[in-house]
Amino acid sequence: MMLGSVRRRGGIAVVAVAPVLLLALAGCGGAVKGDNADVVHGKQAFVARCGSCHTLARADTRGTVGPNLDQAFAQSRRDGLRSSTIRGVVKEQILYPNIRGVMPAKLVDGQRAVDVAAYVARVAATSGRDTGALATAVPTASKRTATAQGGRLEIDANPTGQLAYEVSNATAPAGALTIDSRNASSTPHDIAIQQGANGPVLQTGKTVSGGGVSTVSVDLRAGRYTFYCTLPGHRQAGMVGTITVG
Ligand code: HEC
Repeated sequence: MMLGSVRRRGGIAVVAVAPVLLLALAGCGGAVKGDNADVVHGKQAFVARCGSCHTLARADTRGTVGPNLDQAFAQSRRDGLRSSTIRGVVKEQILYPNIRGVMPAKLVDGQRAVDVAAYVARVAATSGRDTGALATAVPTASKRTATAQGGRLEIDANPTGQLAYEVSNATAPAGALTIDSRNASSTPHDIAIQQGANGPVLQTGKTVSGGGVSTVSVDLRAGRYTFYCTLPGHRQAGMVGTITVG
């Protein structure tokens, strides 16, 4: 559609869009009413495909590779931009990101792009929490404690693409330990183990996604160790936990 041909810079493209197109956007009628956007699917797709790079408070994502989307749209909200306009901007960005940038084009396409754009437009730079079906759209990352069995620990990555492991604390006896971290999501992760909270990194497993398993095998003396994901921003976003040995 025509929006695709408009190159966007910040919020400026909104002004550059032909008036007739703005009318068409406005005619979509808000972020959700009167059209076929499914914001619940939109939230799920956002967490799975966008959250590893973008912080969006209501989606509980904490990615830091791309701009914080609450901050990105705060000014638009203050300026009174309608959700339908923000939605057009987000959809444009999904389909036609800066080709020299790092955001891949069409991570979601077709109806999914409409759904994701509608969700972001509804919640970005708004206070409060998601309610109703949106509140339960994405299961909250669980925080289990794991115990080594036969010298092995399983510390899987969150399968929906959230920046979290399924385990936040683990215990193991001293000696040989193999840690397997399965990652069913499409967001790449690895697992590394380091001494203490900031000590030397003992080993880093390979980067995996789509069902791959990142593995480290180490020999540990009694003490505290840290496991974390080495991909940029992932540890800061919460992919970190403690292993108590001994
Ligand atoms: C690999 C990391 C990455 C992923 C995944 C990603 N983005 Fe981005 N995004 C970026 C970066 C970096 C920018 C900054 C501009 C650029 O490079 O195009 C950006 C810019 C944006 C902007 C413009 C923000 C502004 O300040 O104007 C929006 C909106 C956006 N992304 C939405 C999304 C949505 C929705 C998804 C999921 C479909 C997504 N992004 C997935 C990295 C990412």
